[in-house]
Amino acid sequence: MITEQERILSLRAELHRHNHNYYVLNQPTISDQEFDALMRELQDLESLHPELFDPNSPTQRVGSDLSQEFVQVEHIRPMLSLANTYNQDEVREFYERVREGLGGEPFEICCELKFDGLSISLHYERGRLVRAVTRGDGVRGDDVTANIRTIRSIPLELSGAEVSAATDDGQGDLFGNDDQKVSWPSEFEIRGEVLMPWESFEALNREREAAEEPLFANPRNAASGTLKSKQTAVVAKRKLDAYLYYLLGDELPSDGHYENLEAARSWGFKVSQHMRKAHTLDEVFAFIDYWDTERKNLPVATDGIVLKVNSMRQQQTLGMTAKSPRWAIAYKFQAEQASTVLREVTFQVGRTGAVTPVANMDPVQLSGTVVRRATLHNADFVAQLDLHVGDHVLVEKGGEIIPKIVSVDMSQVTTERGPRVEFIRRCPECGAELVRYEGEAAWYCPNETGCPPQIKGRIEHFVSRRAMNIDTLGPETIEDFFDRGLIHDYADLYELQVDQLSGANDSRIRSARKTIKAIEDSRQVPFERVLFALGIRFVGESVAKTLARSFKSVDALAQASLDDFLQINSIGAAIAESVIQWFRNDENRHLVERLRGYGLQLQLSEETLSQQSDRLAGKTVVISGVFAHHSRDEYKALIEQHGGKNTGSISAKTSFILAGENMGPAKLEKAQKLGVAIVSEAEFLEMIGE
Ligand code: IVH
Repeated sequence: MITEQERILSLRAELHRHNHNYYVLNQPTISDQEFDALMRELQDLESLHPELFDPNSPTQRVGSDLSQEFVQVEHIRPMLSLANTYNQDEVREFYERVREGLGGEPFEICCELKFDGLSISLHYERGRLVRAVTRGDGVRGDDVTANIRTIRSIPLELSGAEVSAATDDGQGDLFGNDDQKVSWPSEFEIRGEVLMPWESFEALNREREAAEEPLFANPRNAASGTLKSKQTAVVAKRKLDAYLYYLLGDELPSDGHYENLEAARSWGFKVSQHMRKAHTLDEVFAFIDYWDTERKNLPVATDGIVLKVNSMRQQQTLGMTAKSPRWAIAYKFQAEQASTVLREVTFQVGRTGAVTPVANMDPVQLSGTVVRRATLHNADFVAQLDLHVGDHVLVEKGGEIIPKIVSVDMSQVTTERGPRVEFIRRCPECGAELVRYEGEAAWYCPNETGCPPQIKGRIEHFVSRRAMNIDTLGPETIEDFFDRGLIHDYADLYELQVDQLSGANDSRIRSARKTIKAIEDSRQVPFERVLFALGIRFVGESVAKTLARSFKSVDALAQASLDDFLQINSIGAAIAESVIQWFRNDENRHLVERLRGYGLQLQLSEETLSQQSDRLAGKTVVISGVFAHHSRDEYKALIEQHGGKNTGSISAKTSFILAGENMGPAKLEKAQKLGVAIVSEAEFLEMIGE
C-alpha cells in the first residue's frame, strides 16, 4: 500500500510526463479524459494535504484569478540582444569578421529560426524551475514566474538526473527514461521566446472581436500582452508556447551551443528541430533561403534567422561590442508579400469622417491568413501608385492587422489596363463634398451630423467601455436602432423605451430591459468620462481628465478662451481650438443641454472636488519601483488628483521621482545625473496630506 504522499508525488511525475508528451513532443500517449482524471485525483489529494503544496505541481498550471504584482529583479547574467542585418552582404561581412577574429581557426555556425515573441530567461536549480524573468532593459526584468508556470510546454521539473548526483538504480527516472543521457547541471539558465501560435492567436482575436474588444495586431503583441496579465488564470487560458534557444551556466554539458541545446531537449525543453550547423557560408545562405519561404508553414511567427558561432570557447574569443555579442547576428526577413489582382477600390468613412480607400482583391494566402482587402492609405498614395482596376498588386502584412498594398506588380502589367483608380470627390455614404484640412493627408466628409457612419461611430464611441460604459449596446444594435429611426445622436439614447426595443419574445424583452437599465446607470458616470464620451476631436481620455479637473464643469469649459486653455500645462493650441470650435456649434450646445436634462454628470462631483488639491500643481512625477500602500495606478490617480502630471521617463523636466522598493539602477543613475529629487512613498503621502 502506498501512502497518499507517495501517490501525490507519483501523480505529479506522471502528469509532468504527459504534459511533455503532449505539449513538447506532440505525441500524447493517453486520452484527454484519462489526463483529466489523473489531474482531478491529484487536485483532490493535494487539497487534503496542504502541507505538501508545491508551486511546480501540474495542478498549478491552471493559474489563479488573484491579482499579482510584478517585481523587478536583476538578471543573474545580463540578457543581450543581437545586431540586425537585412541583406546577404551583411551576413557575408559577419562571416568574414568571425573568420578574422578567430585567426583562421575552423568554426561552425549554428543556424536557427528567429522566433517572433518576447524573450524570457528561465532559471533552474536542482532540476526545478525557480524563476522566470522578462528581458526588461537587459539588466533587470519583471519576475513573471507565476505566469510562466501556466505554459504547458515549459517543464517545471526536469527529466533525467542531476549532473553530479546521477545514480543508476535501474528504475529509470521520473519520466521513465532509462536510456542514460546527459544530465543537467544543478544550476543553469535557459533563454528562449514566449510565443502565441498562429492558431491560438486567431482564435483569441475571433473571441475578442465577438466581445468587441480591441484586437491584437500580431502574435507578438498578443503574447506580450498575455504575459503581462496580472491574473495567471488569464495566461493559462491563452495557450502560449515557448521555444528555448540559449543555455547558460557554469557546468554545461558541452562546449558546443548546438550540443547543449540538444541536451536541453532531452531534459524536457522545447528546442526547435530546425536548427542546423553550417560549415561554410554557402550552407548558411542555403538555410536562409530555405526558411525565407518555408517559414510560412510554421505554426508560430518568425521574423528572421539567428546565426551563432557554435563553440563557446570561440564565442569567448570573439567577445562583445558595447551592446551585442560579436559571435552572433540576426538576419531579418523581408515582410512577406503576395501578388494578386485588384478588382475594385471602395471607400470607407470612419467615425471622424476620414475617408480611406480600400483595395478589394482576389483572395490570396499571406502570412497564414487569406487576404481579400487591403488599405490604400489615402488619396496621395493611390495617385502615386498609378493604380488601375485589374492590375496585379503586391500585398504585404507588416506588424499591423490590416494588410497594405505596396506596389503594382509591373512585371504583370499589360498594355490594356482597366480604368485608372480615381479618388472620389463626394462622400460615398451621404453625398457631401469632401474636404481636406491643411497639413492632413486624409479627405474628410464634413457632414458630421448627417453622415450615417459618423453618427453611428460617435454613438459607438459614446457607449464604449471607457466612456459611458453602456456595454449592452454593440455596433450591430446601434446600427439597428439607427436604421429604425430610433436614434440620431447619442442624446436620443436617453429617450429609448423598453417597448420600442423589444419584440414579442421574452428574451428580447429581457435584453431590452437590460439595455435601458445600462443607459439609466450611465447617468452616474463621472464628468471626465462624459467629456471624453462627447467625442470632441483631440479630447482623448487623458485630455478629458485634465480639462475636467481644470475647468470643473462643462459650462466653464464652454466659456473658456484660448488663453484659459493655454495656461494648462499639457494643453496645446490644437486641442484648445478643437474644443472652442465644438462648443461654438449650436447643435453641439443643444446636445449638451439635452444631456443635462437627462441628468448626466456635467461637473465634477462634490466628492472629487473635496479630494482635489493643488499641492502638486505644475509638478511632473515619474513613478518607479514597488509600493506598500497603494498600487502604481492608484499613485497615478493621486498625482493627478492633486494637480500633478505622471510621466513615464525621467528627463530634465521631471520634478521628482516617487520611488518605491527596488527602483531600477538605470533610473537611479539617470535621476542622479539630472539632479532629479527622489521622494519615498512615505514622504509622498505626507506631501499630499494622506
Ligand atoms: S539568441 C546573445 N536565438 O531575438 C544571444 N535570440 O535581438 C541572445 N530571438 O532578444 C539571443 N529567436 O528575443 C536568439 N533563436 C534565437 C532567437 C532569438 C528569437 C530573439 C530574442 C532576442 C532577439 C535578438
